[in-house]
Amino acid sequence: MNFRNKIVWITGASSGLGEAMAKLFNEQGAQLILSSRNVTALERVQQSFLNKEASSVIIPLDLREYNTFEELTKKAINAFGKIDILINNGGISQRSFAVDTPFSEELRLLETDLIGTIALTKAALPQLLLQKGQIVVISSVMGKINTKYRTSYAAAKHGLVGYFESLRLELADEGVNVCNIMPGFIATNITKNSLGTSPELVKSSQNNLGLSPEKFAVQALDAIYRRKGNVYIGGFKERAAMIIKRISPAIFDYFIKNQKVT
Ligand SMILES: NC(=O)c1ccc[n+]([C@@H]2O[C@H](COP(=O)([O-])OP(=O)(O)OC[C@H]3O[C@@H](n4cnc5c(N)ncnc54)[C@H](OP(=O)(O)O)[C@@H]3O)[C@@H](O)[C@H]2O)c1
Repeated sequence: MNFRNKIVWITGASSGLGEAMAKLFNEQGAQLILSSRNVTALERVQQSFLNKEASSVIIPLDLREYNTFEELTKKAINAFGKIDILINNGGISQRSFAVDTPFSEELRLLETDLIGTIALTKAALPQLLLQKGQIVVISSVMGKINTKYRTSYAAAKHGLVGYFESLRLELADEGVNVCNIMPGFIATNITKNSLGTSPELVKSSQNNLGLSPEKFAVQALDAIYRRKGNVYIGGFKERAAMIIKRISPAIFDYFIKNQKVT
């Protein structure tokens, strides 16, 4: 696995999966464009890079501010002259019932996870076609299954899977790969940053027992290097849930109905 001379633009690089992937891309020689809202956190990630020979730049970006994406894409291309790989990773999750979640919050999630990701991809697409590059989307198992406490999150992630699997077909003959990575539970700050969260939920979250972001990053970069299509990364339970859901949605619903998935 070697990403020397590859220019990688990664959203949500300030925390969790994005941070872990950025660090590994840096070790593998990639030049990075780091994006999210929190510039101080992005600077911390940048300063932690071990490979000081591989350059990186920070381009602040809010996934809900779609009207800035054309300009930010130009800035990203100007940073190193091209973009080879766009990693759509930034996002937020949910830990609340729909009935308790204000519409404005569900909208915030959909705008961040779904619409912002589509809008940024469209802004970068002409460049990725030119480079015969790669589009990566960090969706979720929640793009293939569904549980309680995740209405808008499941909607966003199902939407992403649908959009990017269709886009993969459209780009297949253009030399651009679309890699859809579906993580299970990974131990990041995702519960802390979710809609409807609480300190109790953060403490008891199943994410705390999930795969480490560093282990996730190794498998994710391997999949990106091999230009894979759909990839699941996580534990056995979530993989089994995806298989049961595919075989029998009714049996899946029967078993998942009483699970408190927090
Ligand atoms: N951890 C898991 O178990 C898991 C499982 C399945 C899928 N995922 C997906 O993996 C991705 C990364 O999540 P994580 O686990 O690493 O969570 P995290 O630690 O909370 O990181 C989320 C990242 O998204 C960025 N972000 C949030 N809102 C944004 C906005 N409006 N504009 C730009 N960036 C924004 C955050 O940066 P700023 O705050 O600096 O903007 C942060 O870097 C998400 O798409 C998530 O749905 C995670």
